[in-house]
Amino acid sequence: MPTASKGLKLHYKEEMNFREIKTGDSISIGKRSLHFITTPMVHWPDNQFTWCPEESILFSNDAFGQHIASSERFANELAPGIVMEEAKKYYANIVLPYSKQVQKVLDLAAPLPIKMICPSHGVIWTEDNIGDIVGAYKDWAYNVSDQKQALVIYDSMWKSTQMMAGAIAEGFEEIGIRAKLLNLQCNHISDIMTDIIDARFIAVGSPTLNSSILPTVAAFLYYLKGLSPKDRIGLAFGSYGWGGQSIPILHQMLGGAKECGFEMLEPIKHQYIPSKEDLHKIKENLITQVKAKLEES
Ligand SMILES: Cc1cc2nc3c(=O)[nH]c(=O)nc-3n(C[C@H](O)[C@H](O)[C@H](O)COP(=O)(O)O)c2cc1C
Repeated sequence: MPTASKGLKLHYKEEMNFREIKTGDSISIGKRSLHFITTPMVHWPDNQFTWCPEESILFSNDAFGQHIASSERFANELAPGIVMEEAKKYYANIVLPYSKQVQKVLDLAAPLPIKMICPSHGVIWTEDNIGDIVGAYKDWAYNVSDQKQALVIYDSMWKSTQMMAGAIAEGFEEIGIRAKLLNLQCNHISDIMTDIIDARFIAVGSPTLNSSILPTVAAFLYYLKGLSPKDRIGLAFGSYGWGGQSIPILHQMLGGAKECGFEMLEPIKHQYIPSKEDLHKIKENLITQVKAKLEES
């Protein structure tokens, strides 16, 4: 591909003699042949699929990859849960912004009688599990999430926002939505992104610090914005002392950005430390809003 030769020359800073390919080109390597399908931006400009029809092998480049480095070579040699979770983590953190391109690529691969998928990262998919990974890619590429799952992501200096997070999680649970509490002090943003693949409701909380949000929450939101998951329902919440600027900042970052553009619930904020009654009100507020949203959809 021209993008590949250009990138390699820029990277290695030397002239190299390439034959550039385009979709439909093929070469014979003796008994077998390699056929090329360009798949730009899944997830680099020079990505391509290579199809070997004699063996029914698809060399899928970044698509269907995982960050697994094991002595096992095939997905069916590892516990299925581990491989699918790692494939989901890879999608969430690497491929997600290019979901539109993945949709096209899935259509291109659909007619191929694939017996094996060899991605450029991780273990090889065989007939035992090709259906599972291709099925999962269809859901991920089309932003299918589970409206029975919520994430409550937060950080807190003195635990007021943490208490609010607990009340919000309880509210979700009370109406049958599984809620996962994720404190940014002890959950890595790449693991949180993996959970975002499944969850429809994404609540993010921060107290106000110096008219802004906590740096941990800001780091997470910038990472989220780059990966730009779609079709989620967001909620901004947090405790504050006087100005309460964290709440509009969170609301804007989750709902206003072109990259995220979540449909937003009304923010939930609380001045200083919430009492037992305050926490009850926060929970009821959440329940009322979520029920209304579910009825709308
Ligand atoms: C260093 C520092 C700076 C703060 N800056 C602000 C501020 O600019 N605006 C505001 O409304 N509250 C501010 N607060 C107050 C906190 O937002 C408030 O105490 C809140 O309840 C803390 O929530 P937490 O227990 O979840 O950390 C500040 C607190 C600290 C310690």
